[in-house]
Amino acid sequence: MSKFARIIGTGSYLPPTVVTNDDLSKTIDTSDEWITTRTGIKERRRVTDESTCDLAEIAANNALEMAGIDASELDLIILATTTPDKIFPATATMLQTAIGASCPAFDLQSVCAGFIFALTTAEQYIKTGAANKVLVVGSETLSRIVDWNDRSTAILFGDGAGAVVLSGSEETGILHSKLYSDGKYLSSLQVSNNYINETGFIEMAGNEVFKIAVNRLSSLAEETLKECNMSSDELDWMVPHQANLRIISAVAKRIKTPMDKVVVTLDKQGNTSAASIPLALDEAVRDGRIQKGQTLLFEGIGGGFSWGSVLVKF
Ligand code: ACO
Repeated sequence: MSKFARIIGTGSYLPPTVVTNDDLSKTIDTSDEWITTRTGIKERRRVTDESTCDLAEIAANNALEMAGIDASELDLIILATTTPDKIFPATATMLQTAIGASCPAFDLQSVCAGFIFALTTAEQYIKTGAANKVLVVGSETLSRIVDWNDRSTAILFGDGAGAVVLSGSEETGILHSKLYSDGKYLSSLQVSNNYINETGFIEMAGNEVFKIAVNRLSSLAEETLKECNMSSDELDWMVPHQANLRIISAVAKRIKTPMDKVVVTLDKQGNTSAASIPLALDEAVRDGRIQKGQTLLFEGIGGGFSWGSVLVKF
């Protein structure tokens, strides 16, 4: 049995169509200045005819290429998504076929915390010896569930996918993880359709979500560092869920981490829910900011609420 689950490859993909703040201000009562000041977002990507599986396939193949393994070597695929292509089958099974794998594959739904929940699940498979090579993907086509006439949500979300390949290892990898859920906040953030015969859109009490996100993520970051007997000085990078720059800055400030140690990609991508952490990770790995041996803190919160953290020696 392996002691650790190590990340051995990362990948990502953004659909080519860019929607800028100025584009949005042509159809809804908003402005680049308002969106930038309140959120830090300048533009986001939107699918035209690509599916969640299409985005996931490219991100997954990029991660497999970096890992230097073939899809046939995978023991498990976990796809975190809020926007599966169909009610069934799981989009993960379509991804399995698209990349040429033959292992078990399932979807995991934990909205913006989906990647954290999927990574933690994958780690358990590896540590128990049930799997050795696991593909974890976050992929979203949130544009399908955004009401493009609702200025309080249309400005926030984007489409994209990110992926990691994990391998069992005696070298350090994932060091710690922590998950939480509290289902009493249903009305603060949800798609309120009944899933079977209605389509629905994201409904959100933005202010309330903002405060809860800052509180929960700040406490969780402190708790994670304490349980690992670490100070924030020992963190090389925070790679947070990319929801709002003000949420990210408030958490970084609370754990005394300077913003130059935080990976921020939301200006170009908006909030891509389960995809945002692996998208940010892949960008910083490929541009050389994140190096092997560095200590990374992933954190995310989403509808439910569900939230969690993963501390990794990369
Ligand atoms: N453009 C211009 N004005 C707007 C817009 C817009 N797009 N949206 C709202 N306004 C107006 C409001 O109507 C309000 O006007 P009023 O004062 O005349 O009533 C004013 O701006 C202020 O609105 P607030 O909702 O109080 O603005 P706030 O500063 O809270 O910013 C925001 C809103 C950006 C949504 C913020 O609350 C937020 O980011 N919350 C977190 C939401 C989030 O991240 N959700 C993602 C899912 S969960 C997660 O990933 C963590």
